[in-house]
Amino acid sequence: MYFKEVKLHQFRNYGEQSVLFDKNVNVFVGENAQGKTNLLEGLYVMGLGKSFRTSRDSDMIGFGKEFARVATVVCDEQEADSEKEIEIVFKKEGKIIRVRGLKLDRSAELLDEVYIVVFSPEDLRIIKEGPEHRRRFLDRELCQYKPVYYNTLGQYRRVLRHRNALLRACGADGALLGTYDEALADYGMRVVRERQVFVRRLEEISAEIHSAITEGSEQLSIRYDGDFVSTKDREATLDKDQIIHLLHKNREKDERRGYTEAGPHRDDLTIFINGTDSRQFGSQGQQRTAALAMRLAEIRLIEEETGKKAILLLDDVLSELDEKRQTYLIEAMRDVQVFITSTGIDEDLLQRLPSGSLFRIDGGLVNKLT
Ligand SMILES: Nc1ncnc2c1ncn2[C@@H]1O[C@H](COP(=O)(O)OP(=O)(O)OP(=O)(O)O)[C@@H](O)[C@H]1O
Ligand SMILES: [Mg+2]
Repeated sequence: MYFKEVKLHQFRNYGEQSVLFDKNVNVFVGENAQGKTNLLEGLYVMGLGKSFRTSRDSDMIGFGKEFARVATVVCDEQEADSEKEIEIVFKKEGKIIRVRGLKLDRSAELLDEVYIVVFSPEDLRIIKEGPEHRRRFLDRELCQYKPVYYNTLGQYRRVLRHRNALLRACGADGALLGTYDEALADYGMRVVRERQVFVRRLEEISAEIHSAITEGSEQLSIRYDGDFVSTKDREATLDKDQIIHLLHKNREKDERRGYTEAGPHRDDLTIFINGTDSRQFGSQGQQRTAALAMRLAEIRLIEEETGKKAILLLDDVLSELDEKRQTYLIEAMRDVQVFITSTGIDEDLLQRLPSGSLFRIDGGLVNKLT
């Protein structure tokens, strides 16, 4: 699938801008702070209805403006008559999403319209920083890959919020807490089970890619850790009764603290390279390769699950990689649409890319060069 066109209106530093894209490769060059990442963000929101850089939708509205609008035309070569327009209007009080002119009731309905994988310098945080980055990575990918997960996760979070509120209220009602424990165990078990299945497949594919990039010298593995994971069999999830038992055991402590300590909202991934934790011991290059392998694995996973080819967004990453990694990435872009941003891309690298369009961005204005 590919974007044919985007129209931006009062989105970030853009006034009124429309751009027609190449089906394969689109390269955007420009100095710092001109709008390169903003443009990719505009495309990314078409996939998940939200940004990859901010959780506040209103950040995307141009300064001093009332609303922002992004509209794209998406095509899918595998389907006849597939051309569709997706439009999102961000207002301070909320957003409106339309597909083919029809308003969606829930943002989740957007998830299976277009699949996007973004690779940016921020991705290193998945490897290097706290567990919340890995959970966010996992949840976002799973939501795209399996939209039903979005609902299960939403339900889990809702019950968790209620349970925590009840824990904070003095003299928590035991019977009500029991009801929440039941629901939390049920949704929590499903969240963890989906994540475990996903991580197993993610590990298989990213290990294969990682091994190809490192010419077999490094082995990547990923472990999912969590309170609802069985201690006897790391691949298995606790069953509902075992989880309820765990919640009961923690209840006194939870009441004292005013929040639920155990559960998938605290889970984490450990990413190993040759058996050692890459977060603690990996070099920058190793961490970058691991992040790249995980992102490229997503393209394959999405295709496996949905039969669709995702669109790849590479924000400021291509020129940062060494030649071997660049070559691998360039190979991976042969049959997907890709958007590449860079402050400067040398002629030699441009020559190695599959053919496509080159644009220049200056102060929120996009000009096609070739
Ligand atoms: N809501 C907004 N309204 C208007 N301008 C904004 C808004 N949000 C960000 N900007 C401006 O957009 C510019 C940054 O754009 P962007 O992040 O796309 O830059 P870039 O071209 O990717 O630069 P770099 O090469 O440094 O990554 C900044 O000047 C910032 O002030
Ligand atoms: Mg940028």
